[in-house]
Amino acid sequence: MKDKFYITTPIYYANAKAHIGHAYTTIAADALARFHKLQNEDVFFLTGMDEHGAKIQKAAEKAGKSPQEFVNNISEGFENLWKNLNIKYDGFIRTTDNNHKEAVRKVLQKLYDDGAIYKGEYEGLYCTGCEQFKSENELVDGKCPDHNIAPEMMKEECYLLKMTELQKELIEKIKSDEFQIAPERYKKEILSFLEGQKLEDVSISRRNILWGITLPFDEDHTTYVWVDAFLNYLTGLGWNGDLNDIPKQWPADVQLIGKDILRVHATIWPIMLLHLGLPLPKKLFVHGHILSGGKKMSKTLGNVIGIDEMIEKFGVDGTRYLLLDAGTFGEDVDVTMERMVEKYNNDLANGLGNLVSRVVKLVQNFQFSISPPKADQPWAGNFQTISNDQTLNTLNNIEIEKALEYIWKIVRDANKYIEDTKPWESAKDESRKEEFEKVMQKLVDDLGLIAELLIPFMPQTSEKIKKALETKKLDEVLFQRIK
Ligand code: MSP
Repeated sequence: MKDKFYITTPIYYANAKAHIGHAYTTIAADALARFHKLQNEDVFFLTGMDEHGAKIQKAAEKAGKSPQEFVNNISEGFENLWKNLNIKYDGFIRTTDNNHKEAVRKVLQKLYDDGAIYKGEYEGLYCTGCEQFKSENELVDGKCPDHNIAPEMMKEECYLLKMTELQKELIEKIKSDEFQIAPERYKKEILSFLEGQKLEDVSISRRNILWGITLPFDEDHTTYVWVDAFLNYLTGLGWNGDLNDIPKQWPADVQLIGKDILRVHATIWPIMLLHLGLPLPKKLFVHGHILSGGKKMSKTLGNVIGIDEMIEKFGVDGTRYLLLDAGTFGEDVDVTMERMVEKYNNDLANGLGNLVSRVVKLVQNFQFSISPPKADQPWAGNFQTISNDQTLNTLNNIEIEKALEYIWKIVRDANKYIEDTKPWESAKDESRKEEFEKVMQKLVDDLGLIAELLIPFMPQTSEKIKKALETKKLDEVLFQRIK
């Protein structure tokens, strides 16, 4: 039987247009999903939209639209962007889907019947940006550091989810890696948080937020948006909330998330699953934030790099590459337009693009006959023949930039090989025919290998290289230098 591989991105708030941070996670998930598909695994890649809650209600009011009309529009924009970026997801969940809403209600009823949810009151400081209560010690100068706004004091009757009784079990599962949190330092961070204090029960309902899923056992309350949102990871697989009929893809193999949403994903989410008796995700992989010029991107600072702007300038595969290789996946990465242009010119125009055009020109000019790839050659479309290579190990460990570094070493070495061996000289000398053929065959093989290895990251470029090898011509210059 095929191994299964289920990967998710967070679902994005439908309160504003997609930005580079959303694209960062989604492109990474796409590359990983494509990589696992190439290994013949039964892959499901889920992404989608988080469409309820106070933040969205407010944004819709401001835009003078009904919340549904508003989220329809935003979600369409996200879907279009994913199409443009060549993202091949298997499921796109929206929390306003009827199936999702019904399933959430079923789950909540079950938790209530089991006594995991009880009625009470909650008082605390609420940040609408995070859609979370904040403790005093999380604030900087009285403000939420992520949103730079002072949270509002809220006190209301609500329903609460029991957290404390499952805290010990959760700690054990994280420690043993049954529920793995990676990279390691995030595991440490969460363990030190969980071991340092008693988890408070969490309010899972709101009285004054109408834009949400009504609680099945109390119509005066709507579901807290995070509880609603987490269940997407199951309903996105078509689950209807029936605990006797859990989708075969569950548990998720990898859940990609940004570091700002680690705490909720490592506490409320697994505790909900434990209450339901469901297995926890196998791995929560946490990535850092994209900064620009050392600072968080913000309109006020004027350092925002638009994703559409990137696609226009660097093309789809150029954008995918620059984001995937922006730095160590897992740490904060800093991007500026200037550095991206430089990297584009170095790695793509002068590096890969130049290599492809040189090899194809040599093949054309000296009529080198490319024999069809043998079955065991990687570019015969057999990704698995390179299964011992470094890419596989690095990508299984989600070390995306290391996989790319490995590929670009082949690119650089091949460009250097051309300079060292000067095949245009041996081509003209009958006595060096053998040498010429050997050099050319190596270059063609290298290019084939590069094309195959690039499939997860730059699928269109990979296709173009393969086509050039087959037809012995390039229809276009790959990655023109830019200013
Ligand atoms: N809706 C919640 C997630 C619910 S999942 C059950 C949410 N949405 S979000 O749209 O605000 O953020 C989604 C993801 O985008 C998060 O993982 C977040 O870390 C990521 N990013 C948002 N801005 C980012 C950067 N500037 N850089 C990298 N990723 C960032 O949170």
